[in-house]
Amino acid sequence: MPHPAMSPNHVAVITGGASGIGLAAAMQFAGFGMKVCIADIGAERLAEAAAKLASVAKGGAADIMTASVDVSRFDDVAGLETAVQKRFGGTDILMNNAGIGPDSNSFGPLENWQRILAVNLWGVIHGTQAFVPHMVERGRPGLVINTGSKQGITTPPGNPAYNVSKAGVKAQTEALQHELRNLPGCQISAHLMIPGHVFTALTARGRTEKPPGAWTPEQTIDFMIARIDAGDFYILCPDNDVPRQLDERRMLWAAGDIIENRPALSRWHPDHAEAFAKFVKGE
Ligand code: NAI
Repeated sequence: MPHPAMSPNHVAVITGGASGIGLAAAMQFAGFGMKVCIADIGAERLAEAAAKLASVAKGGAADIMTASVDVSRFDDVAGLETAVQKRFGGTDILMNNAGIGPDSNSFGPLENWQRILAVNLWGVIHGTQAFVPHMVERGRPGLVINTGSKQGITTPPGNPAYNVSKAGVKAQTEALQHELRNLPGCQISAHLMIPGHVFTALTARGRTEKPPGAWTPEQTIDFMIARIDAGDFYILCPDNDVPRQLDERRMLWAAGDIIENRPALSRWHPDHAEAFAKFVKGE
């Protein structure tokens, strides 16, 4: 049974909604007859996305709202909440999804660290603080869906700033769900969306065709909706290369680094390569 927040005329707000996973979510929600607001940067991209959304929305363009918002700025996000309230009466689903992934390493560039944390982590904190108290007050069933990443759980070498931001999103979303479920009468639940490899502008890196291992944004959102209906907090998405079982072994191994007192990121340490390969096979 679809989650009651996804009912016709209820309201969904999606940051990073002009593209990729966010746009696919917006299309689904609009298709359910919901009123949808996409918040993103770039007026032209927003207008293009809005035209697509209006073509599937029950009420056409009247059900679709766009907002030029930089989620790293609290005032922008607070203004978005007020604007959605004015136009649609409040918010039932908030998807804190805007994200970026420029390269980083431990020694720089500092600006990339600052920007990644500002968008990926502070964007989620801003969304939570600006919207969730009003969603609770509204007194209806609602959802907060924060887009994290497997990189925030197994923290692979390559882009530490991104990993830190997504590890922060995981911790923030877990804490939020704990607080919400302890609020008397509250009908809002928080969920951590953990995409696999999804072919989007973020991951295309010059490719124009989806690599066979990746999922489409639409597949990813179909999975997300099914898992929310099933009541999952951790929406752990597979892709065509990585089934759930492999993710489970990788995550268990990462937790085992601490318990077994192995070196940091031992999965990528040559002395542990053989043991990890055996562990993955369940030996
Ligand atoms: P995308 O690049 O297609 O979409 C991200 C959207 O966020 C873009 O439209 C972008 O303009 C917007 N955005 C960036 N900075 C913003 C800001 N300051 N304020 C408002 N909007 C901003 O990429 P994709 O893949 O759809 O990413 C969505 C989320 O999924 C991100 O949080 C990303 O980290 C996460 N993710 C994606 C994976 C993938 O394989 N594509 C895997 C794991 C997580």
